[in-house]
Formats: sequence, structure tokens, C-alpha cells
Amino acid sequence: MTALITAIANLKGGVGKSTTTVMLADGLAYYFGLTVLVIDLDAQANSSQMLLTERGVQMASDQGKGAHHFLKQFVDREPPAAGPFIMPNAVTLEELRVAEEKDERLGWVAALPAHPQLRLNELSLEEDWYSNNGTPSTLAKALGDHMREALDPVLPLYDVVLLDCPPHLSPLARAGLSLANLFITPTIADAVSTWGTKQFSQWTVDNVSKDLAERNFVVVTRFRNSSYARQVQAELREIYLKDRAFGPTIPESIHVLKAMDRAAPDSYNTFKGKYGGVSGDVHRLAERFAEFAGARTGVSWPRMRS
Ligand SMILES: Nc1ncnc2c1ncn2[C@@H]1O[C@H](COP(=O)(O)OP(=O)(O)O)[C@@H](O)[C@H]1O
Ligand SMILES: [Mg+2]
Repeated sequence: MTALITAIANLKGGVGKSTTTVMLADGLAYYFGLTVLVIDLDAQANSSQMLLTERGVQMASDQGKGAHHFLKQFVDREPPAAGPFIMPNAVTLEELRVAEEKDERLGWVAALPAHPQLRLNELSLEEDWYSNNGTPSTLAKALGDHMREALDPVLPLYDVVLLDCPPHLSPLARAGLSLANLFITPTIADAVSTWGTKQFSQWTVDNVSKDLAERNFVVVTRFRNSSYARQVQAELREIYLKDRAFGPTIPESIHVLKAMDRAAPDSYNTFKGKYGGVSGDVHRLAERFAEFAGARTGVSWPRMRS
């Protein structure tokens, strides 16, 4: 078996891509006992920070791990290999850590983190590439080929790879999208987010996956229950994205903010302690995604915890 690669992407920023990535990584690891690799392709490094803390992201970088170092492998024309850049332990949940200590690993999260340096490395790569008559498209293709080859030997170690994508279409972002089997689109129920979602959807259909609709799982995030938000959500479900699968609607909640604020790289929290009032939402997110992935790809993930 090889990992199912899922891109979490939208051209709009701030719609909960990174938060959804982390919730899903935790939910799939916790409830389904899956081994999840989070690859952060966004130089904002938010999901990396949510999993590893700011200090952990820096420690990873100091150890030569992270997407910015991986990019350097491509620049230096070294043989493609993603393994050396992965932090094998990005677990934040006490239950997963305890099971591991008892040698009964049941669910795990690893990360190929991002770092702010990624932005600078991307820029200098793009400048070099374009000054040698390359184009954004040829760079996206070359990066995609490199990533595919680099991930090939590590994919069998994981059940799911979650690609946290940036809110733009840089060559690296396009390379990531080109690897995906499934696409999760987080969006907020408001007009500007709907606009970004429609643009992302159209671009992806035209350039990456003609059958996006079948591979697309939409999650309305940061939902503030008002008649306006309910109306926008209804339009998304019934008009703009009526051919897509929808996950649960995630409420705007202080519990989400707290869950994403890990105290220290070696601090752990129980699932209920981490997610508190949104535990049920994370549970539903994992469950619905598992059903969706099963229906679309044939994977079968039995429940391991209740
Ligand atoms: N359900 C939620 N409730 C409250 N705040 C949220 C929720 N989801 C995301 N946020 C906050 O909104 C901001 C944007 O979320 P983030 O996941 O970083 O979005 P993106 O990756 O799309 O830019 C962050 O500050 C995050 O903590
Ligand atoms: Mg993000």
C-alpha cells in the first residue's frame, strides 16, 4: 500500500487550510490509527508551527529538515530523496505518544515542515530558472517530477500525506497540486472566500485535474452561525459546488485557536484536552473524510478508537 496524497488548498488565505490540515492529521491518527505525513508547502509555516511550535520549526531547520532544505536538494541537482527532511515525530497527542512508548503504536503524525526561509529559497530558485529561459510551467513540472521521485520511497511508510498548500500558484504550489490524488478545499461562508474557491476550482480543473469535482472534499470553516453565513453556505452547497462532497461545517471557536497553540515541542495533550469543545467536529471531519476517501479510492480505514 502506498499513501493517499491529499492537497489542502484554496487560493484564498485565512480560510483554515493549515488548521484543517492539523485537525485532519490528528483525527485520522487518533480515530483511525493512521500514520500521517504533513508536508507544509507554505512558507508561512503555519501547520508546521501548530504541530511543532515555533521553536520546533527552528530546531527542525537547524537539523537540516524542512521544505526549504528539500528545495535546495533540487537546486543542487542532488538525487531526489524526501526522507532526510522529515521530522519523524510531529505528534501532539498524549494517547499516541503513550501507545508508542508501550510499543503499541496506533496512529502517528510526522511532518516535512516549512520554514520562513522557504520563501527566499523559492524566490532565488525562480530568478535563476527564469534567467535561464525557464518558465513557471517548466519549473512547476521539474519540481513536481523531483517531488514525486523523492517521495516514492517514503510513501509506503504512511497511510496519508496531507499537503498544506499556500494560497497562490507558485511553481512549488503547482508541483504539490500535481501530486495529489484528492483535494480538500476549506472555505469560509462569505463572498470573498467563495470567490477564491471558485477561482481555485476553475484553475485546478483546467490545469491539474479535469475530474476535480469527484476528488474534491469541501469544508466550510470558521462558521459563524448567522442568517448571512447560512445563506452563503446554502449557495455553496446547492449552486457553486453542488457536484462536490462536503465535510462537516467547522464552527468559529476559541477551542480551535487553543488547540493550535502548542506550549512546547515536548508538551502533549490528550485528544479531548487539546480539542475541548470542538472534539466532536474533529471527529466528524476525520470520519467524513475517511468515508469520502474510501468511496473515491477504495481505501478502507477501520475505526481504532471511539
Ligand atoms: N474554526 C476556527 N475557529 C477560530 N479560528 C480559526 C478557525 N479556523 C482557523 N482559525 C484561525 O483563522 C486563521 C486562519 O486559519 P489558517 O488555518 O491559518 O488558514 P489558512 O491556512 O487558510 O491561511 C488562524 O489564525 C486560525 O487560527
Ligand atoms: Mg495556511
